[in-house]
Parts: sequence; C-alpha cells; structure tokens
Amino acid sequence: MSESNKIKVEICLGTTCYVLGSFRLSTLEEQLPEDLRGVVDVVGSACLDLCHDRNYGNAPFVRINGDRVVDNATVEKVIDAIREEVTAGGKQA
Ligand code: FES
Repeated sequence: MSESNKIKVEICLGTTCYVLGSFRLSTLEEQLPEDLRGVVDVVGSACLDLCHDRNYGNAPFVRINGDRVVDNATVEKVIDAIREEVTAGGKQA
C-alpha cells in the first residue's frame, strides 16, 4: 500500500487538546490492532482550529482523512473511526 492510500490520522497537539488528553494518543500507532497496522499514517498536528468551533464537541480532537473529526478522542474512539473509514473506503486492512 502506498503512503497516499493510507488513512491519515492527525492528532492535535495544540495546547487545549494536549492538556485535555491528546498526549495519551501519542502511543496510538503501537496500540492499533494488528489488522490496522500499516493502513494508517499517524501524525501530530498544531491546533486544528476545532477547539474554537462550536460545531464540534470537546477536545482532544483527532482529524481523519482531512474531514472526519473525532472529539473527546480516546484511543478506542479513534480506532473505531479508523475501522469505519476502512470499511467506507473499501481499504483492505
Ligand atoms: S488545540 Fe486542538 S483543535 Fe485547537
């Protein structure tokens, strides 16, 4: 699978998200189930500008493939969202 086919997972490391728990997501890649390893590209990001937008819930935020937002992000919620992206995109996990 080429890099461009991977699901992009952006973990917000801005101050609000970091203080509210995004630091707990720093080990996300190691905690991925075996079938999802190699399918995602996990990166840290500066403030995603979601913490100022009332359309979204509470920090910490994770953005997946540029448009899907996971709020109150935990490892479990992010893994669920990645799995839904895999299913929706028909990617082989
Ligand atoms: S600090 Fe995370 S969206 Fe702003």
